Amino acid sequence: MSQNQKALFIIFGGTGDLAYRKLYPALYKLYKNNYLNENFAVIGTARREWTDEYYQNIILDSIDSIKTSEQEAKAFAGHFRYQSHNVNDTDNYHTLKKLADQLDEEYQINGNRIFYLSMSPNLFGTIAAHLRGENLVNENGFNRLIIEKPFGTNFNDSNDLNNDILQSFDEEQIYRIDHYLGKDMIQSLLSLKFANPTFKHLWNKDFISNMQVTLAEDIGVEERGGYYDTSGALRDMIQNHVLQIVSFLFMDEPASSQSDDIAVEKVKALKNLQLITPENIDDKFIRGQYTTSEEEPSVLDYRSEPNIEADSTTETFVAGKVESLDKNWEGVPIYIRSGKRMKDKETRIDIVFKNEPSNLYEADELSENILTLHVGSNQGISLQINNKVVGHNFDIVPTSLDYKMNEQTPDDYEKLLLNALQGNKASFVYWEEVAYSWKYIDAIREAWDADSSNLLLYPVNTNGPKEAFDLLEQDGNYWVW
Ligand code: BG6
Repeated sequence: MSQNQKALFIIFGGTGDLAYRKLYPALYKLYKNNYLNENFAVIGTARREWTDEYYQNIILDSIDSIKTSEQEAKAFAGHFRYQSHNVNDTDNYHTLKKLADQLDEEYQINGNRIFYLSMSPNLFGTIAAHLRGENLVNENGFNRLIIEKPFGTNFNDSNDLNNDILQSFDEEQIYRIDHYLGKDMIQSLLSLKFANPTFKHLWNKDFISNMQVTLAEDIGVEERGGYYDTSGALRDMIQNHVLQIVSFLFMDEPASSQSDDIAVEKVKALKNLQLITPENIDDKFIRGQYTTSEEEPSVLDYRSEPNIEADSTTETFVAGKVESLDKNWEGVPIYIRSGKRMKDKETRIDIVFKNEPSNLYEADELSENILTLHVGSNQGISLQINNKVVGHNFDIVPTSLDYKMNEQTPDDYEKLLLNALQGNKASFVYWEEVAYSWKYIDAIREAWDADSSNLLLYPVNTNGPKEAFDLLEQDGNYWVW
């Protein structure tokens, strides 16, 4: 069977940073690897007045460092057109439809359409309604709507947003992006848990002491201050990426590998999260904001970054203890942590197993077995075990079995775009997952908003406030990283 996919992409937000940095290079790699051949075209839209030629030069620029040859890059960019577009203006959709139909014929695309919304979420409903109303949705092929985060800012407005979109598209046609679901190591969670008897039978409260999710970044808010100051780490990283990982860690085995069945179990896991209350928030969650450090005087504190309010109380760091109401997970917390301007960029998941007493060894001779998924650039898996020291004596030392992925793996967006082309929703977020994630986050947000005194400052280039370490120490645990 040919792997060649046929589709017309219409990108709303075609002049944006995400399109330039992620989407165009991802499409190019799909082209280079023969997933897209001749039967595809892209229409970029945004308000700016650009010509096709100018747009195609931007495309060439965006793939400059990865192109195989000048000729191939030019052939690829030739598939791109630009239309200046006001999302509220019905006439603009008529012009867009004409161009879409024309490209459909020119490139023999068979009516398949992918609408990619990389815009402010308050425009999603309007765009979706116009796409349906002005017949851009094509009867002949598939129609899929890809939506970038943030999907709302709390449960109520994400629910409104979702209902707006559902007026024009079915849930089955909606592909909500969480780019972490395109990462190999996150995708490995399912196989690791359910394809290995070794882990499958141990993945429960009898054998696991705690799990840890760290999404640490060394960068600050960069030029995204305007967005970030209204979002904060809780909405920017925890609501989506971290809770998606949590759902994989707590979920039971799905009935099949179908995306609907996987979603059922993820939703169950999210629904079972124990909600935080104003009474217990200080024991379970802490928030911090980065400030200057004597060692790094040239690095700005958060409040001095561009487009940040001088008295901002937005958190740039969150650490918390996530617990499940599921009896199978009683007493097993998932400690989570994410922040900007931390020591290093480190993305990892650590599963800490319980230490078993033994007739042969004293408890203090043994370390925990720890399974670690390295999600970031150093992708791989390691397993810490107790082993006899090499040589004459029989002392026990912790030893690490390491697997490093050394091949070039496809980028997150490259994988997600291919999945969307293939109609595979397993790496996209279903509405109910979004809904329960927001309910969990809203409870934390409300408790924090009622009391601004608990914002802790941490110096840049550290792993957050001391209280993030206390959170584990009070349970007799410690951060593995
Ligand atoms: C995005 C956040 O979703 O994820 C950013 O909006 C963050 O603030 C980014 O920097 C991190 O992604 P990654 O893939 O670099 O870990």
